[in-house]
Amino acid sequence: MIDPTLPLAQLAAQTAARFQQRFGRVPRWIAAGPGRVNIIGEHTDYNDGFVLPMAIDRYTLIAADFAYAGTKVQWHCAQRDVTAVFDLATTVQKGEPKWSNYVRGVFAGFQRRGQTPKGLDVVMDCTVPLGGGLSSSASLEVAAATLVELATGKMIDPVAKALICQKAEHEFAGVPCGIMDQFISVMGQQDQLLLLDCRTRQTQLVALTDPEIEVLIANTNVKHELGSSQYAVRRKQCEDAAKILGVMALRDVSMARLEAACSRLDPVVFRRAKHVVGEIERTVRAATEVRASNWPLVGELMYASHHSLRDDYEVSCRELDVMVEIAQSIGPAGGVIGSRMTGGGFGGCTVSLVRKSKVNEVARKLAADYEARTKIKPSLFVSRPAQGAVVLKG
Ligand code: GLA
Repeated sequence: MIDPTLPLAQLAAQTAARFQQRFGRVPRWIAAGPGRVNIIGEHTDYNDGFVLPMAIDRYTLIAADFAYAGTKVQWHCAQRDVTAVFDLATTVQKGEPKWSNYVRGVFAGFQRRGQTPKGLDVVMDCTVPLGGGLSSSASLEVAAATLVELATGKMIDPVAKALICQKAEHEFAGVPCGIMDQFISVMGQQDQLLLLDCRTRQTQLVALTDPEIEVLIANTNVKHELGSSQYAVRRKQCEDAAKILGVMALRDVSMARLEAACSRLDPVVFRRAKHVVGEIERTVRAATEVRASNWPLVGELMYASHHSLRDDYEVSCRELDVMVEIAQSIGPAGGVIGSRMTGGGFGGCTVSLVRKSKVNEVARKLAADYEARTKIKPSLFVSRPAQGAVVLKG
């Protein structure tokens, strides 16, 4: 396992060395796709709402070169020591191993655009925790898409690139996700959050440059199986609500209008919609308050988001709630500005904004109290907002 805390250039050098070991030459290209953490705006992307994520300095890295001959891709995963092989002479299909479907889906997306490279030799490493809700899959898709751009000598529009990656997830991995993860992994910028309007796909940068503020990510190290099936159920409930309300998406409904329509909605569907409508408002507000460095209010919005996800959207779980409760009990006096679950839910990570001078203390307390209450060892790390889709050699 490579050390995830190493600077990107060093990680890239390690992946390049692995490529050389395996294929006996230096790689022609090195690229990386980052994972992400969402500060606020959960389960709003597929409702045409707003999200406020940032790319994190955890990556899927790939080193690659053209194969000596032919049209085959040999994609070696260093972590698992497994190689996926597929042929670009025909339309790329789903296959084994399972993780290779994220890559296959991206190649298929480029094939549809008539952008197919020659055969490739590839080595991949990953420092994004797998299954931790930090979008390791989007980081892989975006790294793969960046490689296809390099190998065909044609960069594409970043929105089109993110959409190819999203489609790979839909069609090859069977996850009906929104656009947040792939967009931020492509478009992330150093020291910036990205306020993304998931309807118009317009983005605004929101600087997170206050040297006093750290983003602390706490992985509960649980992943409840429920997650993937419940995601589709939530999506459907939102679509049902929008249909009954006669709008294209829940983005188009104000809280007043939703409340007025309460009796027309099934109580569960009403609560789902209430989360989404409230969360969209909170996200736009949070972007404004981050810009104003109004940290107490940003914190309140984060807790309100968590409680809404827990009580109305019902995608949290005990471990996430415990982690957020501990953070909230440390409070502003102990350096915690705000905290919430991040990503799809049912396990994975929480994100907290923490005063830099207190961050080590906070991390220690979160880890110790969480373990005492759940008997599970969490993993914690801080990340600055990182750049999306990086070409390290190309
Ligand atoms: C997953 C999906 C995203 C988004 C989040 C919830 O990460 O991939 O599109 O819906 O869940 O905000």
